[in-house]
Amino acid sequence: MRITLSVIKADVGGYVGHSGVHPQLVETIKEFVQEEVKKGILIDASVLVCGDDTAIVMTHTHGVDSEIVHGIAWRAFEKATEVAKKLKLYGAGQDLLSTAFSGNVKGMGPGVAEMEFEERPSEPVIVFFADKTAPSAWNLPLYEMFADPMVCAGLVIDPKMHDGFTFEVLDTYTGKAVKLSTPSELYELLALIGTVERYAIRSVWRNNDGEIAAVASTQRLSLIAGKYVGKDDPVMVVRAQAGFPAVGEILEPFARPWIVEGWMRGSHNGPLMPVSFKNATPTRFDGPPRVIAAGYQIAEGKLIGPRDLFDDPAFDKAREQAQLMADMLRRQGIFEPHRLPSEEMEYTTLPKILKKLEERFYELEAPRKAVEDPVEKHDID
Ligand code: 13P
Ligand code: 13P
Ligand code: MG
Ligand code: MG
Ligand code: MG
Repeated sequence: MRITLSVIKADVGGYVGHSGVHPQLVETIKEFVQEEVKKGILIDASVLVCGDDTAIVMTHTHGVDSEIVHGIAWRAFEKATEVAKKLKLYGAGQDLLSTAFSGNVKGMGPGVAEMEFEERPSEPVIVFFADKTAPSAWNLPLYEMFADPMVCAGLVIDPKMHDGFTFEVLDTYTGKAVKLSTPSELYELLALIGTVERYAIRSVWRNNDGEIAAVASTQRLSLIAGKYVGKDDPVMVVRAQAGFPAVGEILEPFARPWIVEGWMRGSHNGPLMPVSFKNATPTRFDGPPRVIAAGYQIAEGKLIGPRDLFDDPAFDKAREQAQLMADMLRRQGIFEPHRLPSEEMEYTTLPKILKKLEERFYELEAPRKAVEDPVEKHDID
């Protein structure tokens, strides 16, 4: 059976501030999508919450970029926005950047990760969902899952993975993408995806037979809206087992927290903390950034699950380390590298402050010549 798995997410109002989602919003969305399951338009649907964001996980046979499926998610979020407005929740309708739906939610605010595949005899998938961060947060773990044999033993042990995986990398500034095949183009891949403010992995494919392995949301709200309207808290879907990394290989990168962009006002670097569904409530300095992992077995398109995969004491150490990293970074206060570099602050309210001071700047030293590009000028080894 050929099915499509679509995950569409949005923040349509925070409870309280940016820390959580009010239960009435979750109920509204659940009821709305369950109606579509009853009508037979969707095979199944499941709703996840991480921080102040809600994700709708849907299975169906309409393919990716379906107007029907995107329309269902859009209307569900619109309904939830009505409730959020009534309760005066914070930033009601925050991620719905357009007033009218026009066929596809891409570029309209909500985040999307979708893949179409032939359901295997057993089809385990993991939906990752993060709050207070950006799509490039997935760059490091996707590399480790699909290209680093020191993390994913299957790359060595499973012959189906020996040909490696191809990564589709999006340049979020230009909208252009490039496909890089690993292991042969591993270093080119890392050269790009280490630049987290610009490049984000969009999808991963198995070289052996071209099967889709993973897909992530890559929308940049600030680039759509032209100003800061909250962070692009991302989702990602990864298929597991039998020619793909095992569930434990997919989760392993999260056992060692790393630093991602986001946190307070979307303007800070902070550790990504893997948490249970219950603990996906970022409150310390609006964070630190959280990630949940929802495991499903798909059976004839039905979503068997979710299993709360980070609800395991084996991730306690990662949570503890993330707390320590959070303390270290918080020590920096408003100073870089805790606060994001100025180029990344362009889409916050900081430019307004610079504008205010513009007239008050005066010449103290001779004007600086433009700095030349050192790479062009000299060969640096
Ligand atoms: P079990 O023997 O528990 O099924 O484990 C198999 C396996 O491959 C674990 O990675
Ligand atoms: P969200 O993107 O999760 O709404 O966070 C916005 C923010 O400013 C947090 O401090
Ligand atoms: Mg919010
Ligand atoms: Mg959020
Ligand atoms: Mg957000």
